[in-house]
Amino acid sequence: MCGIVGYTGTNQASPFLLKGLQTLEYRGYDSAGLEVLSPDGALHGVKYAGRVSALVERCKVANPVGTSGIAHTRWATHGAPNDKNAHPHRDCSERIAVTHNGIIENFRELKAQLMAAGHEFTSETDTEVIAHLVEDAWKGPRKGDLVAALRNACSRLKGSWAIACICADAPGQIAVARNGSPLVVASTADGAYAASDVMPLASITSHVIQLANSQFALLESNGTITVYDETGDMVRDPSTIDIDWDASAATLGGHADFMEKEIAEQPEAIERLLQGRLGEDGIRLDELRLARDELASIDRVFLIACGTSSHVCQIARTMIESWAKVPATWAYASEFNYEPEVLVTPNTLCVIVTQSGETADTLAAARRMKALGCHVFAVTNVLGSTAAREADGVLYVQAGPEVCVASTKAYTAQLVACALLALVLARANGTMDQNGVARHYHDLSLLPDAIREVFRRSWQDKQASALFRRSSSSLYLGRGVNATTALEGALKIKEISYLHAEGYPAGEMKHGPIALIEQGFPVVAIVPADRWHDKTVSNIQECIARGAHVIAVATDGDEGVASQVEHVLWIPPLPDELLVPVVAIVHLQILARFVALARGRDVDKPRNLAKSVTVE
Ligand code: F6R
Repeated sequence: MCGIVGYTGTNQASPFLLKGLQTLEYRGYDSAGLEVLSPDGALHGVKYAGRVSALVERCKVANPVGTSGIAHTRWATHGAPNDKNAHPHRDCSERIAVTHNGIIENFRELKAQLMAAGHEFTSETDTEVIAHLVEDAWKGPRKGDLVAALRNACSRLKGSWAIACICADAPGQIAVARNGSPLVVASTADGAYAASDVMPLASITSHVIQLANSQFALLESNGTITVYDETGDMVRDPSTIDIDWDASAATLGGHADFMEKEIAEQPEAIERLLQGRLGEDGIRLDELRLARDELASIDRVFLIACGTSSHVCQIARTMIESWAKVPATWAYASEFNYEPEVLVTPNTLCVIVTQSGETADTLAAARRMKALGCHVFAVTNVLGSTAAREADGVLYVQAGPEVCVASTKAYTAQLVACALLALVLARANGTMDQNGVARHYHDLSLLPDAIREVFRRSWQDKQASALFRRSSSSLYLGRGVNATTALEGALKIKEISYLHAEGYPAGEMKHGPIALIEQGFPVVAIVPADRWHDKTVSNIQECIARGAHVIAVATDGDEGVASQVEHVLWIPPLPDELLVPVVAIVHLQILARFVALARGRDVDKPRNLAKSVTVE
């Protein structure tokens, strides 16, 4: 949530800052702004409510000139998304500016103290207190030391932050701080850079420094970067990461939008993930960092995540129990963190699933499980993310940068990653022999082509999307693992089309949601050829009897279902019913996109959302 970039060097700052903000816009797009240090020694700020594209247009007129600057794209937490609350924020002297990602929990108290001391505030944000605290510290005994001033300011903050700070009296310098919200810095012959994640830097360098919590850094225009800890001591070996994907991975590459592109990338993402995983004795998953006997002794698996990733956990739970016969449970991280009691055994494995690796609730849950003595395994997509760094083991799903706010390719890749984990556990504890593992691996390897087949049938989704034209609500139904597909399908359509959709286990429908159904009401039923098929068909009939228009996701050849419903989204047959969600959801992603586009929505940047939810 919120994206930060900074640059100081020999080039003009604005081009990198604006391009960087465009790359980070998935983190929030309520407002955007920049501050550049002009050659005349004053700060030149441009900031507005609205998208980065609007800021780009304004900058063409305002023309901020200067070789040092900071910039921000905002997802509003404190204060409405308007011009005055847009970052960066200045101090009273207008010589200091800051951008911030996170939440300052004690800002009210600090603001009251600062106002009592004569500071004047111009925004309703929590961030502005930082600018005024730096102002006070800058006047203090270590005047001239920007990073010391920022350190002093941060010592009074409670909450989470990634901060970039510029001062007109410290030309060629940017001070940055990190505590809880991500921040990376990098140096080239052209200067020094800061960003919320590696994406804006991927076209500039392949090597970045990842600041740890409580670290600070001073960026200088000659490219020098000095990292400090919270006591002000220099950190000689800060953590670094190599960026192993090229910047074009985060461009549209001829697609109409990132959602279309990322849906299309699913088969290759799964192929990459599966490649070379089948070993002579089970699945190769060294990333778990557990020895065979430790794996064999795991007696409970706790899966934790938020949103779409929590749907991965729900299906993974079934895979783990079915294949490895290990009791598994899942929880929403936001709920889990406030559970009064968490019952773990000494051999409980905690699995966190998080595309971004930065979801605040998921990270807090992982820390809680670690404190309880659990081995924490992260399934994530983002290289060097906080989840990856803090977990005991990490499996990168390698789906490539996911830019569209609605998760698609990370979802299916995470499902496959969890299937691999289930097979590892099954082989280690002896509930599956090598032949069984090889058979399941083969079943997994069929998924990419099955998804490609769905792509060839996307005309079915387009036709079915017409059913949503006159409706403001819909019901998504499924059973077993596809009850979760129903939840995920409903979430996709809600978030990008703003149509209400209720995802529900089909058998539970008659205990309440059936009351929603009236003439022409759209119902999407996931009814593949599996053990739950006939029961779900009965539920479809109950819906039709009440006037519903049903779209069924069904397996090729199921004429029985086809004869009853308005539209069928056909999926090819798969040998393992637990893998159907990986293919069925692709139809529902495409369907949601068509519905949203017909309503004129921006499918990549739905309102009120941000891709990386770094606040609780
Ligand atoms: C929905 C979506 C979100 C995320 C959730 C968790 O399409 O993307 O529900 O799944 O915010 O994010 P991660 O997986 O990054 O922890």
